[in-house]
Amino acid sequence: MLRLLRSVAASLILVLSTIIAYNLFVSNPEGILLAQASDKIKCPRCGYLNSAKNPDGTLNTDCDKCGYSIVSFSADKGPSKIDPKIIAKYAPEMKATYNIFRNKCSKCHTLARPINTDLSPTKWEEYVKRMMKKPGSGIKPDEAKRIWQFIVYDTVKRKPNFFNKLPEKEKEIARKLVSRFENESK
Ligand code: HEC
Repeated sequence: MLRLLRSVAASLILVLSTIIAYNLFVSNPEGILLAQASDKIKCPRCGYLNSAKNPDGTLNTDCDKCGYSIVSFSADKGPSKIDPKIIAKYAPEMKATYNIFRNKCSKCHTLARPINTDLSPTKWEEYVKRMMKKPGSGIKPDEAKRIWQFIVYDTVKRKPNFFNKLPEKEKEIARKLVSRFENESK
């Protein structure tokens, strides 16, 4: 009985180690190298090899050398500009602010990221401030405020389905902003 168990265990170990070895070296000859490489993330902009984790163990998201976003988001895959026909209908100041937004918010990731991300006005305020505070953002506080206004205005105009589902308090912030810019242009 004991001998039988021992030989079963031995064959199991043999089968398992064959599978592991096959996966590591045959189907993926660089298996070990890949495992090491995933501890590092190469910056798509400057090529710097960043550690995947910050010293405190959290995920590293910003290139340590140039500040570029080294993680990608699903929003990045969407359109990277707003249809000019839509922009043409925007209030004059919003048209002007679109250019600031385009310039400033495409420096460390594609503009597709903010264009295809749906957030409430309050959340956008938090996000735009976070972006502004990143080293080398080149975003001044008054520009951040204008960009925030544009994003909120654009949410009302371009994303009615998302906008309609927002809590009343958030809708109110956005509506006020839209009527302010539309009245200014009259
Ligand atoms: C200095 C570089 C830099 C600039 C400039 C910048 N971003 Fe970012 N952005 C990042 C990095 C890095 C990340 C990923 C880490 C993070 O979320 O903080 C990111 C992530 C994001 C995300 C996704 C966050 C999430 O968790 O879903 C949004 C949305 C975004 N940025 C919007 C903007 C907007 C709007 C602007 C312009 C006001 C902007 N970004 C300008 C570096 C930048």
